[in-house]
Amino acid sequence: MTTAIEPTKKHRIDFIKIRVRRQDGPGKKPYWELHKLPYEPELNVISILQMIAAQATTSDGKKVAPVTWDCGCLEEVCGACTMVINGKVRQSCSALVDRLLEDNPDEIVLEPMRKFPVLRDLMVDRQRLFHALKRVEAWVPVDGYYDMGPGDKQSREAQESNYPLSQCMSCGCCVDACPQYLKIEVARLDGESDEAFEKRKLAEYEAGFVGPHAISQAILFNNNPTGKVLEGERLDALSGEGGIQICGNAQNCVAVCPKEIPLTTSIARAGRATTLHVIKQWFEK
Ligand code: SF4
Ligand code: SF4
Ligand code: FES
Repeated sequence: MTTAIEPTKKHRIDFIKIRVRRQDGPGKKPYWELHKLPYEPELNVISILQMIAAQATTSDGKKVAPVTWDCGCLEEVCGACTMVINGKVRQSCSALVDRLLEDNPDEIVLEPMRKFPVLRDLMVDRQRLFHALKRVEAWVPVDGYYDMGPGDKQSREAQESNYPLSQCMSCGCCVDACPQYLKIEVARLDGESDEAFEKRKLAEYEAGFVGPHAISQAILFNNNPTGKVLEGERLDALSGEGGIQICGNAQNCVAVCPKEIPLTTSIARAGRATTLHVIKQWFEK
């Protein structure tokens, strides 16, 4: 349970200052804007963004368009509300204002994630994150309308190692913090059709690092008795271009994951599995 923190005398304030890095659209120049709100206890960052939207006026009285951001569940489950808050990538729904003011009573600084293209203000395009899950076929292939009966039983040991990995909410904190995951922003060419643009963008994503979340999900589904049927395809993806060899083992990913997923353990397991897979392929030639 999260305990609300009363601002101490030292931190008692009448107003909260929020500095937002804004951007009017993809590829546009970012700029900073300062907002000032009357202090209320027990707010989170989403509630201050709602108050900023309702006020739509900067600290110096200029009327502005409401700040754009993304969110869904408001309880750290959907992963949509990730942003950089006071320099740290995290969920805005679980970022408590009183705690942020304890660390920095002067202001709260909100920025969009750094590795995805900005759509507007704090909202980014996370398509590459989801495309990486497609690259590693992060699913159990049991689609169909007919009854296939019960799946194979999982051992207690497998359940215990799979459960933490299954909590991934595709929030992207891990890739934001990863020094090996470089931003890819593809601009549309003059006269380029939707189809051609999408194809070119996905080709760029395919060549980039898949990221720690996708590596961990590949391990999760390879350790599932039914998901295992795609093990070879997943290991092909992890040993190919933009695969596990890009990881420099900096371990930044594991430090920022809000679900405390043991990403470096998954990466080590994936490293061993891809090495064996590649050796096996040599002998089969
Ligand atoms: S351990 Fe690998 S995936 Fe994680 S932050 Fe470092 S380079 Fe990125
Ligand atoms: S591994 Fe953790 S940080 Fe990365 S996307 Fe999943 S929940 Fe978010
Ligand atoms: S709104 Fe869903 S994780 Fe924050």
